[in-house]
Amino acid sequence: MDKILADYRNQLGDFEIVEIDEGRVEKIREELDIEAPVDLHWTWNYGNEVEELAALYERGKKGQWNAETDIHWDTDLPLDEWFLPREGVLMLPTILTMMEADEATCKAAAADEFAFTISQLLHGEQAALQICGQLTNSCPTMDAKFYAASQVADEARHVEVLSKLLQRKFGTIYPIGGTLKILLDKLLQAPTWKTKTLGMQTLFEGVAVGILDVIQKGSTNPLVSDIIRRVKMDEARHAAFGILTMRRTVQSATEEEMVEMEDFAFNILETLNANQQLDMLNVLGPKYGIDPHQVVEMAMGLPNWAEINSELFMHTVVPNLARLGLITERTEQQYREIGVMHGDRFGTGIDEDVRASMN
Ligand SMILES: [Fe+2]
Ligand SMILES: [Fe+2]
Repeated sequence: MDKILADYRNQLGDFEIVEIDEGRVEKIREELDIEAPVDLHWTWNYGNEVEELAALYERGKKGQWNAETDIHWDTDLPLDEWFLPREGVLMLPTILTMMEADEATCKAAAADEFAFTISQLLHGEQAALQICGQLTNSCPTMDAKFYAASQVADEARHVEVLSKLLQRKFGTIYPIGGTLKILLDKLLQAPTWKTKTLGMQTLFEGVAVGILDVIQKGSTNPLVSDIIRRVKMDEARHAAFGILTMRRTVQSATEEEMVEMEDFAFNILETLNANQQLDMLNVLGPKYGIDPHQVVEMAMGLPNWAEINSELFMHTVVPNLARLGLITERTEQQYREIGVMHGDRFGTGIDEDVRASMN
């Protein structure tokens, strides 16, 4: 299988990075109409066929909330105060602290990077909204259609709440990064509901649960904490759907299909990782006197780079793939080489919110 974005790969030291130049990114962003055929599937069986999805749908109905009226939007979020730890969660304030930048600069960079990250999550939410619409069409059972429809409502709410957070408290929404847009289009164009589920619910929502968990644990602002907690509770259900559905899928998959899914997962995660946040660093780095390539090279030179780099992936997505049998000896070493897998391939276990959604 060919690498994604093969034309935008360069060596940085020993590492192959993906970096799209700004001119090309503009064009990628302008591609608003995407050909994404969907195989629609009718069913006449209106009884419950898939017990665990019926339960998940029930849980989803009870878990609905209103992004306008349930959120205390009048809560202050002063951007000149720390609302996440100075180091550890965000990259820019960590680097600027090492560069001995003044306090105000570190805080401004933290606010900018947070807004950038939430903006990327927002664009990902829009993709999730559209993919779940596709799944409602193509899933084979009524239980899966009910569940997918409820996720459509969840994702609409996430688009609403994150865009309101950005507009009301940060006054800006950053445009989508080129790498992310290309990868999201791949998921929207994935040929079957199985690959869409693997791509969106297992890979992307797995990564999202990791990001949300880190923000939730670090946030000291009640508004941010409340929004992230609510979104993460919903995402945990979505990740649970991914695991439950993929479990059934791999049980009935042929060897050839397993290889295909394993490669698909590896290629998506490899590309995401190969960007090394350069999409963010290229936009925000220059504003704070940070050289993007220098930062990436420096990070890679750290003795514990693989451990730090793999943290987000080892939170949920890699252990899930390993449990599903979608990381085998064939790809395990490659995952380790690019710093996406570190330590025990099964990680420390399933995120507690995801586990709670599965029971
Ligand atoms: Fe979402
Ligand atoms: Fe989701």
